[in-house]
Amino acid sequence: MADRNSAIGVFDSGVGGVGTLAQLMKELPDENFIYYGDTAHAPYGTKTPEEVMQCVRGVMAQLQARDVKAVVIACNTATSVAAAALREELTMPIIGMEPALKPASENRRTGDILVLATPVTLSLQKFERLMEKYGEAAIPVPCPGLMELVEARDFAGAEKYLTDVFAGTDLAHVDAVVLGCTHYVFLRPILSRLLPPHVTVYDGNLGTARQLRRVLEGRELRCDPAQKGGVVIETSSEEKERVLNVMHSLLDMAREQISG
Ligand code: DGL
Repeated sequence: MADRNSAIGVFDSGVGGVGTLAQLMKELPDENFIYYGDTAHAPYGTKTPEEVMQCVRGVMAQLQARDVKAVVIACNTATSVAAAALREELTMPIIGMEPALKPASENRRTGDILVLATPVTLSLQKFERLMEKYGEAAIPVPCPGLMELVEARDFAGAEKYLTDVFAGTDLAHVDAVVLGCTHYVFLRPILSRLLPPHVTVYDGNLGTARQLRRVLEGRELRCDPAQKGGVVIETSSEEKERVLNVMHSLLDMAREQISG
């Protein structure tokens, strides 16, 4: 039976949520985390919603078997498909993610906002609702294939992909780019090369970490203050060792980038 000192489950289709995990560990350093990368079933973003739901159920079974006290869906695609259903079925807190269009639109000057995300995220009702509220100047940009380049750490390929994405856009009229897929956060260094300095890049990692803190506090599920936090990373990949090494090195990189 999970209690306040149980671990928090975090998952994504692969390495993307590792960047979110780094932010969660910074915000809540005394908590224990179990990260599950569903690499064997990636990508989620070009599957049907039914297929994504099936993948999510597989991951949730793994996390529930480890008696987690809460789950962070560190994946915009899986959140869009599964968060509402999981919240209805389970009593534990389920924290999801959505493209950070709200802060981008609140800080907008006069230009457009490009929302980069997977085809599934951009096609579902959750995003449609977000667009109704904050989408006045938003242009959805589906990026099939981009997460695979991040998984392969093919950053040259990702730079070429993004160069092509921006080729047809007058960047002088763009105020912001929203990273609506957790994998894309690892492309921030490339984006700062490709985008003019006036363009602000938003991601949902900090907002998600703060939301997790609020929910845990609200439900009296924060761990014992004397607890020493930690993390265990797992993957469904058959190449376990290689994938775990990649995830650990990306976690170190992300933690270094957001330290300070
Ligand atoms: N990282 C995921 C997201 O935030 C999905 C990538 C994928 O599996 O297509 O949407």
